[in-house]
Amino acid sequence: MNLLVTAGPTREPIDPVRFLSNRSTGKMGFAVAQAAAEAGWAVTLVAGPVALPTPPGVRRVDVTTALEMLAAVERELPACDVFVSAAAVADWRPEASSPVKLKKAAMGGTLRLVPNPDILKTVRPLKGARRFVGFAAETGEPTAEAARKLREKGLDLIVANDVTAPGAGFAVETNRVTFLFPDGRREALPLLSKREVAQKLIERLPCL
Ligand code: PMT
Repeated sequence: MNLLVTAGPTREPIDPVRFLSNRSTGKMGFAVAQAAAEAGWAVTLVAGPVALPTPPGVRRVDVTTALEMLAAVERELPACDVFVSAAAVADWRPEASSPVKLKKAAMGGTLRLVPNPDILKTVRPLKGARRFVGFAAETGEPTAEAARKLREKGLDLIVANDVTAPGAGFAVETNRVTFLFPDGRREALPLLSKREVAQKLIERLPCL
């Protein structure tokens, strides 16, 4: 069985020295890749710019921007049975990216942005019998918003995390998540290592 997972942030260049991004370190997505490989899955990991070693046995594709991540997912998706979207994809990118460093005086006070595609929604028509798992980064109780994303993105499972809760979300080694299923079932897990969260996620995949 083949698992495709995205991890980390995307980075949206303004010029060769400046970019827009977010606080994702890739730890959660890399833990999913590692747990899947340890459970015997053939794993392809599409990684944004992160400082993490590739888990043993995992095939890694490095990308920088959301558009590059989308292109990699479109290329890798046909070969996968399960797609786990753990990346924190930048929702917006600068309208133009300068090939040379912008002078401070030339920048003005306004940065014009255009929306990035939603990767999960874009590849939805290719889903077929594949299982799609998303993550929901919320600030506050991760329930109604996560349930909306589960529905709107046509997912088989969404892993909601409150990224403002102590020990959860970005950069830390632990996470506190709730699994939400399309039939309305919810499973709230205690604070666990990201490795344990990933193992529990992989255990649930055959039941989706
Ligand atoms: O990397 P770490 O430091 O370990 O942090 C882990 C994490 C907080 C990044 C991770 O647990 C997490 O929550 N990942 C999803 C972050 C996110 O983008 O959430 P969202 O609620 O904005 O997006 C919902 C889903 O849509 C996600 O599966 C996301 O990958 C996907 N998405 C979002 C935007 C976009 N343009 N395309 C997408 O496919």
